[in-house]
Amino acid sequence: MEGIVDLFMRHGLKIFGPTKAAATLEGSKVFAKQFMKNHNIPTAEWRSFDLSERYEARRYLAEQPMPIVIKADRLAGGKGAVICETKDEALEVLDQMMEKKIFGTAGERVVIEEFMVGEEASVFAVTDGKSLVTLPPAQDHRRILDGDQGKNTGGMGSYAPAAVITDDLMDRIESSIVRPTIVGMAKERREYMGCLYCGLVITEGGPKVVEFNSRFGDPEAQVILPLLDVDLVEVMIAVCGDKLNPGIVKFHDASAVCVVMASRGYPDSYETGKPIYGLESAFEEDGILVFHAGTRLEKNGLVTSGGRVLGITALGYMDDLEGAIALAYRAIEKITFDGAYYRSDIGRKGIKRLKSVRA
Ligand code: GLY
Repeated sequence: MEGIVDLFMRHGLKIFGPTKAAATLEGSKVFAKQFMKNHNIPTAEWRSFDLSERYEARRYLAEQPMPIVIKADRLAGGKGAVICETKDEALEVLDQMMEKKIFGTAGERVVIEEFMVGEEASVFAVTDGKSLVTLPPAQDHRRILDGDQGKNTGGMGSYAPAAVITDDLMDRIESSIVRPTIVGMAKERREYMGCLYCGLVITEGGPKVVEFNSRFGDPEAQVILPLLDVDLVEVMIAVCGDKLNPGIVKFHDASAVCVVMASRGYPDSYETGKPIYGLESAFEEDGILVFHAGTRLEKNGLVTSGGRVLGITALGYMDDLEGAIALAYRAIEKITFDGAYYRSDIGRKGIKRLKSVRA
């Protein structure tokens, strides 16, 4: 079956995004790892195993240091990558993916990957397959609790530009990861067009790729796109016409932070249908944007309808991250719904790093 981009292209219609062949970079973890190996793109040590090699996979796991990462080869609703702290846990996860098939056929093949130590960061490039432009780097906060503790979520908040990515590091990421990926995909006749999301860990040995995605991140998009000082549609149309001129893509001299308001219980079970109050008051100060993730409009007003309910983005001009954080939390205090939960430390790791650089 062809992908939506293939279908649009076949009909001569404009569409921003990778073809099905190019999106394999996200759609198959084994493809992505092999691709990185072929093109010398830094990533964690790994091995892949298919169903016929499941006993070998168990033996391999038994010999590896913990923690370790096990990834289902294909898409598994954002739940297909598991960090295992102990061998028992790793064997159990392997069993669930390969024997019990909790992800169906998506987990019949797995990647077993070294756990990388370092800060995570997300780097995005917009490309027409030849030219590319990188966007301000961002940091997601994936854990549910302050201090990056507790369960993994879809993302509880983000900020950009991420202080961990200095200008020198960004140059290195562009030359050792982003550009070789775009060039490599073209060489493999899978020319990549659209947004390339590089999920990275900044290890002691330099930046390494955790995963590629064929889209903007959530909640990274909520901080990166407001920093664009050009119409996004203009950029997308240039990409579709194979005429991306990186010079047209300008950014505001600002920092942005997004704090996610979630339903109590998320990422496990939670209740929905709770009335949301105070949204209008959130806009009393300039520089606030509210992104609706899990809301529903009912006849009596807006109610919650998901785990992640709202993303509150605040902008701090002149790169004022501290000011953006304060502004976001002031807006959040004005919004209420029963069981509203949010982290109170979004963007703090950026402040800590900026202070350590200045000291
Ligand atoms: N922020 C993680 C993601 O979009 O996958």
